Amino acid sequence: MKKIKNTLFTEKPVTIDNNSLIMAIESSCDETACAIVKGGREVLANVVASQIKIHEEYGGVIPEIAAREHLEAINLVIEEAFKQAGVNGHDISAFAGTVGPGLVGCLLVGMNAAKTLSLAYDKPFIGVNHLCAHISANFIDTTLEPPFIALLVSGGHTQIIKVKSFSEMEIIGETIDDAVGEAYDKVARLIGLPYPGGPKLDKLAQEGNPYAFKLPEAKVGGYDFSFSGLKTASLRLVKSFGDKELPLNDICASFQECVSQTLYKKVKNALSQTGYNQVVLAGGVAANSEIRKKIFSLKEFGYDVYAPVMKYCTDNAAMVASAAFFFDGKGSVFDNPNVEVFSRVK
Ligand code: KG4
Ligand code: ZN
Repeated sequence: MKKIKNTLFTEKPVTIDNNSLIMAIESSCDETACAIVKGGREVLANVVASQIKIHEEYGGVIPEIAAREHLEAINLVIEEAFKQAGVNGHDISAFAGTVGPGLVGCLLVGMNAAKTLSLAYDKPFIGVNHLCAHISANFIDTTLEPPFIALLVSGGHTQIIKVKSFSEMEIIGETIDDAVGEAYDKVARLIGLPYPGGPKLDKLAQEGNPYAFKLPEAKVGGYDFSFSGLKTASLRLVKSFGDKELPLNDICASFQECVSQTLYKKVKNALSQTGYNQVVLAGGVAANSEIRKKIFSLKEFGYDVYAPVMKYCTDNAAMVASAAFFFDGKGSVFDNPNVEVFSRVK
């Protein structure tokens, strides 16, 4: 049970408990999403409007187009979420919205919609850090509680985080160049797969031989990562075939093996060196078949392993509602209604 006092939008302190409903909005990149979650774990509505079809044409997300699309979709996803859950605005205890990191124009649409709802229904507004939301996808339909190690792998981030409690987190490792999702998307593009390439590369990899080509694992100290060398090595490998037909499945499988091995080893070290016994996967790349398989294999060593079901791996608003419910630390959620959007973590 926790209390949220919101001084601008409502003078009334609101008590949040396991029966409380939080409505959340996510619009940090190319998904406009709205969800209603009870007690941080039970999803009553989960609506996602994806813009993938629009951005496919350009081979990536165009921020201005994305922001305009969010504006088109926002009211529809909110209405649909109320309908799915069978509740109205008066039944909601707090409204949450992603405030960053993400595309500023996109974030503004979702955050302002959530702030407006909070103003209209006289309930608190909770700003949520997108990365913290990805981690929180693991609270949905489980009994998970900190402490745990989180491996966060998304389009923009690759981090190993010590989640010590609901109010204290420490990033103990991160990429020094490309994020895992970014590496996936770039290599996918290199071999001619349409945006977003990550899931497509994963699919082909499942049909290939992971040991067909030896790609280099970066030697970076501690729990940090580097994927730009692997990207360059993949480019060299592709070029070496000249005009010949590419053995796509084997290239994908070899790339995937290299990435998943690197992540697996670092996470295993983090677990044994910190003494933590729970690990969670988070972020869009947590949907990857081989990364899931390798991280889940840590169960053999007695660790408890969590990963969200597929629909909660990629961007959605249920995870945002869950983060708003559970977290209260600086940098994870912001219950100050004056909070503004931010593009990067400072
Ligand atoms: O978390 P997310 O939805 O957006 C960000 O916050 O970045 O992650 C999107 C990233 C994209 O790079 C996409 O290619 C990647 O996740 N992705 C995957 C898979 N599914 C999504 N990468 C590898 N294998 C997958 N199955
Ligand atoms: Zn994301």
